[in-house]
Amino acid sequence: MKANKYFPTIVLAAVMALTIASAASRPAAVGRNGMVVAPEAQAAQVGLKVLKSGGNAVDASVAMALALAVTYPNAGNLGGGGFLLYRTPEGEFHAHDHRETAPGALTAGMFLDREGKPVPERSLRGGLAVGVPGTVAGLLDAHRRWGSLPFKDLAAPAISLAGDGFAISRETAAGLNRSATLLAADPESAKIFVRRDRPWQAGDVLVQPDLAATLKQIAAGDPAVFYTGRIGRAIVETVRTCGGVMTLEDLAAYKPVLREPLHGVYRRYRITSFPPPSSGGAVLLQILEMLEAFDLSASGYGGSRTIHLMAEAERRAYADRAQWMGDPEFFDIPLDRLLDPDYLAGRAGSIDPARATPSGRIAPYRPVPEESPETLHFSVTDGKGGIVAMTTTLNSSYGSGIVARGTGILLNNEIDDFAVAPGVPNQFGLVGGEANAIQGGKRPLSSMTPTIVTTNAASSRPVMALGSPGGSTIITSVLQVLLNVLDHHMPLQEAVDAPRFHHQWLPDVIRYEARMLPEDVAAGLRRRGHILEATERALGNVAAIWFENDGTIHGAADPRGQGRAEGF
Ligand code: GLY
Repeated sequence: MKANKYFPTIVLAAVMALTIASAASRPAAVGRNGMVVAPEAQAAQVGLKVLKSGGNAVDASVAMALALAVTYPNAGNLGGGGFLLYRTPEGEFHAHDHRETAPGALTAGMFLDREGKPVPERSLRGGLAVGVPGTVAGLLDAHRRWGSLPFKDLAAPAISLAGDGFAISRETAAGLNRSATLLAADPESAKIFVRRDRPWQAGDVLVQPDLAATLKQIAAGDPAVFYTGRIGRAIVETVRTCGGVMTLEDLAAYKPVLREPLHGVYRRYRITSFPPPSSGGAVLLQILEMLEAFDLSASGYGGSRTIHLMAEAERRAYADRAQWMGDPEFFDIPLDRLLDPDYLAGRAGSIDPARATPSGRIAPYRPVPEESPETLHFSVTDGKGGIVAMTTTLNSSYGSGIVARGTGILLNNEIDDFAVAPGVPNQFGLVGGEANAIQGGKRPLSSMTPTIVTTNAASSRPVMALGSPGGSTIITSVLQVLLNVLDHHMPLQEAVDAPRFHHQWLPDVIRYEARMLPEDVAAGLRRRGHILEATERALGNVAAIWFENDGTIHGAADPRGQGRAEGF
């Protein structure tokens, strides 16, 4: 097609890019009474059953989170932590933080060698990498506040899946085989997750008797079982044997925290997302506020102008993330200033539509002198107005690879989400400074972005619920699916399927899924001065729900993963 006055280049680019994005991988699931979108099919079935038996969105989330700890061991967890964003049927929002904390005795110096140089391995492997797990306290606490069915009934499916075993998928088999070296390094982990005779294959049955026994104890509903009892002792002993400094006191002191969700407005929509210690909500709202100044519908999905503007907004927001974001209990984050519309209008005003601004020229926000693969996500609605967007993680796939002796619990390596030293990139290439420095009792900065969109009107009607895994790319994956629906009016499944890209300030590159950029779009971006880097890896694994005006609910799992949407 050639541009002419009836079909300007900008529209042509949009049409061509839409062609790349269209043809959904599968139809979205449709329902009216409830919907779950989870990253693994058997866990999705568990959530669906809970909803059908009258459970609410929190009940279904608890049951799915426990099931995923069994069926999706690379990220589902009892030994990690997460964020649960809940919209009640009455329209109130709660941000439930059960992120891991650094053990009290942990210090930044433990991650440096004798010359004071960071040893990246120490925050990823071994006992020092393990944060005090928050998931079990979190699920019990969320259930106590908002659940309606007995906790033991919600734990029952996970107990059966662990004790009787389940047939693993092709993706799980491949993941276990890929991580065989990590898992074989820990004797307890090797016993459960490593096959000596041959590689794992789809259909092999994975039985986890220790995990079943642990889940049975947790099912009784008392967090003390985990935090001060036999399970806690096993966690502490294992972590210390592996070189860590966690104590029983650290475990006993662990508490989930209820935080104020962050709200922002984008065009006609109210966006609610997660506050620090996640950077997700703040970075997402910063990017959206900057993009509000531009007509993205006109430049269209996938056009070089759209990608350029988004990448410019992303690099500015990630620069602020690196400088200013961390655990709010330990660092005074100037959140009001970072989300101030005037500040963001200035940031948006510095975007040149024709030229990339080199990241070296983007300084993070400066206050005026007198003032400073892997995670998982699921989305649920119960059809009564209750909505949960929950992201939970062990950090890397299978976390530290260490299983607490006799418990079947894989332990996280969340300590790598801290900045081990100023400017030293973590496994996601993210840099940080004092705000996210290692300190005992502190929660590492996250990118997890569980998000719920409602109309920005008195009625506050639900529009979307979504989130993603993917380390630093979580925020931009959520952003792109939001924009695909809200600005580019794509049907939900296409919005989730559409190829994605990512810019995080440093490194100063646009990373993109190989099928995203046709040559003319890539040329348009290079002309503006962008450095492009194709990746064969998927960016994100979004689980999204979209609510139509007439009460129809659509659910879309991401073809990048093995997820499933189930509605009724
Ligand atoms: N561990 C990934 C995150 O929390 O962002």
